Formats: sequence, C-alpha cells, structure tokens
Amino acid sequence: MFWQKTNDIASSVKEERLAMIKTIIEPFKIKMVEPLPILTSEQRKGFIRECDYNLFFLRSEWVTFDFLTDSGTSSMSAQQWAALMVGDESYAGSKSFYRLEKVVQDLTGFPHIIPVHQGRAAEYLLAKALLKPQQIVIANTHFDTTRANIEMAQATAIDLPIAAAKNSREWHPFKGNMDVEKLNHILSNRGKQVAFVIMTVTNNSVGGQPVSMENLKAVAQICRQHGKLLFIDCARFAENVWFIKTREPGYENRSTRSIAQEMFSLADGTWMSAKKDAFGNIGGFLAVKDAGLAQEIRQLMVVTEGFPTYGGLAGRDLESLAVGLEEVLEEDYLRYRIRSTAYLGEGLKQAGFTVVEPFGGHAIYIDALASIPHLPWYQFPGQSLSVAFYETVGVRSVEVGSIMLGKKDPQSGQQQPALKELLRLAIPRRVYTQSHIDYVIEGAHLVAQQIPALPGYRFIYEPPVLRHFTARFAPII
Ligand code: F0G
Repeated sequence: MFWQKTNDIASSVKEERLAMIKTIIEPFKIKMVEPLPILTSEQRKGFIRECDYNLFFLRSEWVTFDFLTDSGTSSMSAQQWAALMVGDESYAGSKSFYRLEKVVQDLTGFPHIIPVHQGRAAEYLLAKALLKPQQIVIANTHFDTTRANIEMAQATAIDLPIAAAKNSREWHPFKGNMDVEKLNHILSNRGKQVAFVIMTVTNNSVGGQPVSMENLKAVAQICRQHGKLLFIDCARFAENVWFIKTREPGYENRSTRSIAQEMFSLADGTWMSAKKDAFGNIGGFLAVKDAGLAQEIRQLMVVTEGFPTYGGLAGRDLESLAVGLEEVLEEDYLRYRIRSTAYLGEGLKQAGFTVVEPFGGHAIYIDALASIPHLPWYQFPGQSLSVAFYETVGVRSVEVGSIMLGKKDPQSGQQQPALKELLRLAIPRRVYTQSHIDYVIEGAHLVAQQIPALPGYRFIYEPPVLRHFTARFAPII
C-alpha cells in the first residue's frame, strides 16, 4: 500500500518496522461506515446530461468518489465524536471555547483566539478591521474567497508566487513560496499603500504546494523592515509542516508541533478554515498578537458571527476542532496523508495524464490542456475531462481553468483564458482507502483510452460571476 520511496524520519521502533515492510498503511481502522453509491455508467451519463454537464448540480448520492473538495469532508475520529458529547452549549463563556482557545494558543503562540464559522468569515472580519479603499494586500497567492473579501473592501489583492509555480512540470520542493524580491520591490516603492501581507500554507491556488521555513523567514523579515503585518492563512498548516520536515535541511529531526510553532512565531496572526487540517466538518478561527485588533474584531463579529466565545459554532464543534488540531500533527497520519496523495498522482501519471508536479498535499491537479491535445482552451478541456471521469468511474472533480478563472471581456464579448487548464482531484481526509484509489486509477486508464474522442464543451447558460457554480453546458459535437 502507498509504496514508500522517500526517506521518512521515524522513531527507532518505526524505523525497524519500516526496514522490513515498505508499505505505508492508513493509520486508522474503520468503526462506522457509510454506503458508497455504486451506479452504472449508463445511469451516470443520464444524470450528468440532466445536470447540463455541471458537476456542481450532481446529487452526492449519484457520486461514488467525491473529490470536489477536501474542505469539510473529513472523517472525524472516535475521539472527536466523543468530544462532541461534552460540548458546552452556553451562549457565553462556554467551557468548549476555553478548551479550543488553549489548544490554539499552545499551537500558534498567539494570545487572542476568536472562533468563526468558517475560513471566509475570518477573512471578512480581518478585511473589515484592517482595510481601507485603494489599499493593497500581498500574498504568495490569495485563495478565491480571500481575494473576494479584499476586493469587497475596495482594496487590491496582488499575488506574488515564485516563477517555478507557473510551470506544471518544474520540480521545486517549495513551489508555494513567495517571490521575495518582488515583495521587497513593492514594499520599497508603494509601501504606504500596502495594508498587510499573507502567506497561504500550503498554497492551494498553485496546487497545494508548500512554503519553506526559509521563505517564510525571509518574508517575515521584509515585513518587519517595512513595518507591515504578516498573517498566515493556515488551512493546511500541518501538511505544510510535513513537507518542511521531509524536504528542508535542518528540520528532519524536529517534531511536527515545534515546526508548526516556529512557522506561527514568524507572523502577527493567523486564520484557519478548520474544515481542512482540523478535520472539522465546519469551523474556523482567527488568532492574533495584537489586543487592539482582537478587540475590534470581537466587536465586529457580533453582527455576523455571534458572541466571541462561540463565533457561529456550536459548543460541540469547538470541542471536536480542539481534538482535530492535535490529531493532525501525528506523524503517522501526515506520512500517510502526503504519501497517499502522491500515490494517486503517480497512478494518474502512469495512466498517461500530465499532472502538476511535485504533487501537492491535498489534491492532484491534471493539466487538461496537455492531456487532451485536440481540445483548445476555449472548448474547456478541464470540463471535458471532469465529465469523462464522472461518466466512466463516478469521480466528481472540479475544473480549475478557463471556466472557473477565465473571463468574458465585457466590451468585445470574447472569452479570455485562465493561465492554465487544470482538473483538481481533492482528497477528503481519512475517507477513502487504497482500494478506492486503486479503482480510480484503473478507471483513469479507461478515461485515457477515450481521450481522442472526448468532446469540447460550450456554455448554454453563462452567469456573469462565479460562473462555474451555476453554468450550464452542452458538448460540441
Ligand atoms: N483559505 C484557503 C487556503 C482555502 O483553501 C479555503 C477554502 C479558504 C481559505 C476558505 O475557507 O471554505 O472555510 O470559508 N478552500 C476550499 C477548497 C473551499 O475547496 O479549496 P472556507
């Protein structure tokens, strides 16, 4: 299972075990099961036609492997379910809040902890508290909701990924890094306009790619020199920690917790969509150094999120997140998580697809333009591939290409392409087993055989914004 090729670090007992058995197993056993919908490809072809070829319209009971997102889709552990039962549902001063507060304080080192219902609520509050119109926010790459919240405050979001991030095939151990020269340049020339700087770990928008500690340190130093606040969007911080431990010299023997603590020590605050690396089905938090900023956010949040000791969540949610945040740093879990993602990537590559490399932490991205040579970008090769994966194997994935990120020019009515035509297969945490992944890989071989006959797609309904959610399509025959 998940054949091990890298030199993972392990305690002496584990080293002994690994020396004999190379397989990395799922480090959990199954206590509660949910049926997996099994359909025929004829049924699926009917459903997707009914949905006008938009996979967001599919009912989950029509999907066998749901790789739409890794957000809110984790399996909770027995410990998390047990924690739900002791949730304190008091409106104010809930014991469950103080439990989560302590866990987040110990992890991040920040004194002020504010729960929110999910990541984008934290982004909204931060933008509301810190941004004025015409200001600039700089990130390695903003996630879509972060950008939207910044733009709603009439400010501008600037992405500064490193050059290697633009090339699907270039191997760089930390492709999620920020271009520090460009950061320095902007801060030296337009520093007054810049409100704050964000590091997204891992960097979702460039393929779940990690950020190195070295890069984080360099960014923090430049921010300090220019007197700018640095925030970490830490939705997938533990996956980033594992990449630092296994790829960055000097971190091999450090505990995952101490690496995480070092990362947070470089920033002025952090926010988390706890629907990812806290194994939450809902939830998030903001954690900041500055008491004044915390006070302002606590005042603002009452209008939209609720009282600051529950932040739009039930007491039981706060409890399960506190447990999840501890579990996610377990080395056996992280070793398995990163290895199992790569296993899917290798399988898809062997099936003949061009995939973004190195593999990220939470998802595998297929380069659809390179994988389907006969389809131009304006016939949406990512969409074509996502429909083929659904019809053939029951996999739901998401196009991250010119449908999601392209634009229609309002003057000329011409479509404008995205930088890349990708298909994302995001892997829910602790949900699918290796035999599920083997099945998907076998199915991918069947999809690959169909490539010469795959049709392009055209819009039959094109909404003006966020069009991937509600667009309708027809195949070009
Ligand atoms: N930041 C990052 C890096 C994210 O990936 C997401 C969500 C958010 C913030 C927003 O958090 O959904 O809890 O409000 N990413 C999901 C995804 C939706 O599928 O990649 P949220």
